[in-house]
Amino acid sequence: MRLLQALGIEQPIIQAPMAGVSSPALAAAVSNAGGLGSIGVGSTDAEGARKMIAAVRERGLRPLNVNVFCHEPAKPDRSIESAWLDYLRPHFAKFNTKPPLALKEVYRSFLNDDAMLAALLADKPQVVSFHFGLPSSERIRALREAGIVLLATATSIAEGRAAAKAGVHAVVAQGYEAGGHRGVFDPDAADDRLGTLALTRILVHELDVPVIASGGIMDGAGIAAVLRLGASAAQLGTAFVVCPESDADAGYSDAMAGDAANHTVITRAISGRPARCLRNWFTLLGAGVSSRQIPAYPIAYDAGKALNAAAKAAHEGGYGPQWAGQGAPLARALPAAELVAVLARELAQHA
Ligand SMILES: Cc1cc2nc3c(=O)[nH]c(=O)nc-3n(C[C@H](O)[C@H](O)[C@H](O)COP(=O)(O)O)c2cc1C
Repeated sequence: MRLLQALGIEQPIIQAPMAGVSSPALAAAVSNAGGLGSIGVGSTDAEGARKMIAAVRERGLRPLNVNVFCHEPAKPDRSIESAWLDYLRPHFAKFNTKPPLALKEVYRSFLNDDAMLAALLADKPQVVSFHFGLPSSERIRALREAGIVLLATATSIAEGRAAAKAGVHAVVAQGYEAGGHRGVFDPDAADDRLGTLALTRILVHELDVPVIASGGIMDGAGIAAVLRLGASAAQLGTAFVVCPESDADAGYSDAMAGDAANHTVITRAISGRPARCLRNWFTLLGAGVSSRQIPAYPIAYDAGKALNAAAKAAHEGGYGPQWAGQGAPLARALPAAELVAVLARELAQHA
């Protein structure tokens, strides 16, 4: 399969779906510039997803990737949750607040979200992508039959094989360098932490479907490098976080522009799943905490969001989910269309 043709794009550049950060304006700007713009709807419901899709389409009718979270629904454990809230209590106290009394599962998994499936089948974005796992074969069949191109994140050979076998059209090889949540299917299983270079090359050898490389790719030289490894396209997240169209807040943008960009950390403390974040107050409080102390994803995220909100109300921006990959120091704060044009130019120079 010729991936770019299937995706309907001119450049082998995918702006990563970034729930909470990749706004419709960002996705539309990237798609209108010849790349593939993406929105992450893992943090909203079907109604929210439809509004976001409509907001992209108002800005042009180019291809769009809509990304859903396919995590196993959380198993609540009240004793872990209340011990975690006790652990966070002194941090809330710094902002004269108390932790919530109980935690909720803040995001619904696509695995059991029938309304989200119906919304996708009705709106038919060109591309749908899966993170944290794979939906049932029935859901994959329904989306395929609607003519939607399917992508899935894989962080290992086993996940790549499972995705290809399940019927996705291409696999996103997410290396350990990548910003944001690792797409690991099971956050409690052993993680080989393969880097982008090795994982991309291995999946290109292993799979019969195209591979999209992702993790630490920040410029045309990086895109050219992964294309040379056999990838059909590159998916960049951190590079787009600093675009003016992104929904990153001021604390996040300031941190990206400062020394924190040189020190990304994988933490589970913010959401309950491992994710790469700029070093900040939240990653520091999570250092040394055992993963068994942290509630399941996305229950832990309820506490993480409450602590961030309390901190922000007191003008402290350092408790946010400031996801970023190891290439963060290379980020350029350009309007998204300009960034795509620069990436394409650099790619041509390195091809
Ligand atoms: C702020 C941010 C949010 C992210 N959210 C998502 C998401 O909602 N869904 C998803 O599939 N990947 C998400 N990712 C991971 C990206 O898809 C991609 O793997 C990663 O950005 C690649 O590494 P890079 O950031 O070094 O370019 C996110 C990444 C970042 C930086």
